[in-house]
Amino acid sequence: MKPIKVGLMGLGTVGTGVVRIVEGHQEDLQRQVGCPILIEKILVQNLGKSRSVTIAEEKLTENPWEIIEHPEIDVVVEVMGGIEPAKTYILAALERGKHIVTANKDLMAIHGPEILAKAAEKSCDVLYEASVAGGVPILRTLVEGFSSDRITKIMGIVNGTTNYILSKMSREGASYDEVLKEAQQLGYAEADPTSDVGGFDAAYKMTILARLGFHVNVSFKDVQVKGITEVTKEDIGYSNALGYEMKLLGIAESQDGYISLSVEPTMVRKTHPLASVNGVFNAIYVYGEAVGETMFYGPGAGEMPTATSVVADIVAVVKNLKLGVNGRRSTMASKEIRLKSEEQIASKYFILLHVEDHAGVLAQITQVFAKYEVSLESVIQQPNPHNPKAELVIITHSASKSSMNQVLRHFEQIGVVDKVKSVYRVEG
Ligand code: NAP
Ligand code: HSE
Repeated sequence: MKPIKVGLMGLGTVGTGVVRIVEGHQEDLQRQVGCPILIEKILVQNLGKSRSVTIAEEKLTENPWEIIEHPEIDVVVEVMGGIEPAKTYILAALERGKHIVTANKDLMAIHGPEILAKAAEKSCDVLYEASVAGGVPILRTLVEGFSSDRITKIMGIVNGTTNYILSKMSREGASYDEVLKEAQQLGYAEADPTSDVGGFDAAYKMTILARLGFHVNVSFKDVQVKGITEVTKEDIGYSNALGYEMKLLGIAESQDGYISLSVEPTMVRKTHPLASVNGVFNAIYVYGEAVGETMFYGPGAGEMPTATSVVADIVAVVKNLKLGVNGRRSTMASKEIRLKSEEQIASKYFILLHVEDHAGVLAQITQVFAKYEVSLESVIQQPNPHNPKAELVIITHSASKSSMNQVLRHFEQIGVVDKVKSVYRVEG
């Protein structure tokens, strides 16, 4: 049986896991595809670096063209990360008829349509299951499992690093910097962790999910992004006390032909299934018109979970090779996209205000909400021994984003509001 040869680009957290699974599960893989799968060459940046897996010296290279132009390599697995040089290498490999497996969400969110168009032109596969939610097979589920339904909402905790940080801050009162360092040591964070904590990594993933779920060509720029860098222990304390968990939540909605996409720290009611997703775990809630509510859960980052998805994609490519059907899976968007305006995006909000503490203040504040037709679910005034101002905690009923922005702008102009301390979307 002639082996299928794979060129691996990257031997970091994910690449190392790929080597371990391909070697450790070789017999099971062979049984499924009918031939050995061999990692022929591995591209790294630094040949001198010590590795936690044993690799024959001649397999390692710093020259990408030894993989891209290798006559016997059929499948190129890109797990280096970043846009360049990954994009150039992938397009060059496709040009030569090689199939691609990648875990690169940045690249697929920003340049996915161009890469998929090149793949279609060359009848090649490009599979990227590991790019969203690590070990959770959510892309295949959207493309295949939901092909018969119309999906209207995808809501997800899709970044392991930030969920790990928020969970530890909430449960153990740990400090943000300390837990971020831990997440980096565990291999969850991106090479530049600002992508995680700034919400961009989740936004890349929501772009990919929306494209596959709604069949539209949304752009990464269509996602409204806010990260967790401004979430304080105090905010998390309030969230807990009010019966919510603070989560970095991606929300994609499709309604009457209009799409909205956002990533932001959100207070999720503790009774909602997403509230109990903790640590590095991810979960994606998918609502389909016919199926109703579904949820998919699993480890969202880390060596072995992510490598599981990568190797499953390699297996899918090899099965297609055996059947001679590569490049047949249509993942190109087909519908026109229309984005929702701020008037069309509605949700409940939590607002923490520092206000003057005297008679008539509450009335002035509630009048502002009334002026912009934002109705209130609850208002709690908290004394704060460390703050001469009163703290006012408000939860609204569902209101449009434009009305909420008007309320917040109005607060800047009235003297009784000393500070708008925090504003969060509320779900559930
Ligand atoms: P990583 O640990 O930083 O590893 C990157 C690897 O790529 C290293 O082996 C590095 O070589 C190599 N590399 C980087 N730039 C290179 C270049 N220009 N030329 C040659 N080799 C280069 O990254 P990772 O965490 O494994 O992530 C890889 C990809 O998977 C990223 O797209 C990431 O977003 C995605 N992903 C990661 C996870 C996770 O949990 N870590 C989960 C899902 C998806 P050296 O070893 O010589 O430095
Ligand atoms: N940095 C990413 C995360 C890796 O923390 O979710 C998985 O995509």
